[in-house]
Amino acid sequence: MSVRRLAPADQQPKEFAFTGDNLDWAKGQIAKYPEGRQASAVIPLLWRAQEQAGGWVPQKAIEHVADLLGMAYIRVLEVATFYTMFNLEPVGKHHVQLCGTTPCVLRGADALKKVCKEKIGEEHHVTADGKLSWTEVECLGACVNAPMAQIGYDYYEDLTPENFAKLLDDLAAGRQVATGSQIGRQCSAPEGGPTTLTDLPERPSTPTPKEPALADTEPKRPGEAANVREEGTPKPPVGDASEGSKTTRRE
Ligand code: FES
Repeated sequence: MSVRRLAPADQQPKEFAFTGDNLDWAKGQIAKYPEGRQASAVIPLLWRAQEQAGGWVPQKAIEHVADLLGMAYIRVLEVATFYTMFNLEPVGKHHVQLCGTTPCVLRGADALKKVCKEKIGEEHHVTADGKLSWTEVECLGACVNAPMAQIGYDYYEDLTPENFAKLLDDLAAGRQVATGSQIGRQCSAPEGGPTTLTDLPERPSTPTPKEPALADTEPKRPGEAANVREEGTPKPPVGDASEGSKTTRRE
């Protein structure tokens, strides 16, 4: 993972404060934690700050969150720089997080990186129209459909240089795109259809019951009233050495 630093001063906004709605929401998050443990809300608050700021976390947002939580600025900065889900520089409207971990690389992620460079530019660069940016990230947990990328909140899987280039063009042009597998794979089923349990014998469409099925009314038939039922025989307590219990055991 590369060194993660805050954006240069000329890109940083002069102010940041939560909107009224976000502040109410933030107070609700903080209230979930016991007194003295408010710092536990740092990640959700940073996440909301990132959403409000347009997809990245400015320095002033870090300070604002720290003030709300009574934390030192450096502690919140540590969190924001540690987790790659927080972008420290401005991003495009569609921010591509391209997985560059081994399974995705083995399935062609390097070729996708070239597509990013051709279509968008260097990592962290935002296109002139503000539509696209990209960064390489570690495994996003969808290796079974590698290679893949997360764009915004959605996953795009089974990428090839061709379908990925088209995907980026479509997003930049504001066209509708399909999320998930780009080759029509169902969830994470084998590519090209099932490969096991393909030779099962044909089953009769309706199994023949050996006995007539229990009618729905049978188990629901009312029993005797509680005052006319036979009473159960109470069992002697465990370890009871009384005469009666000895007799019972001998029998
Ligand atoms: S290695 Fe790419 S999603 Fe896991």
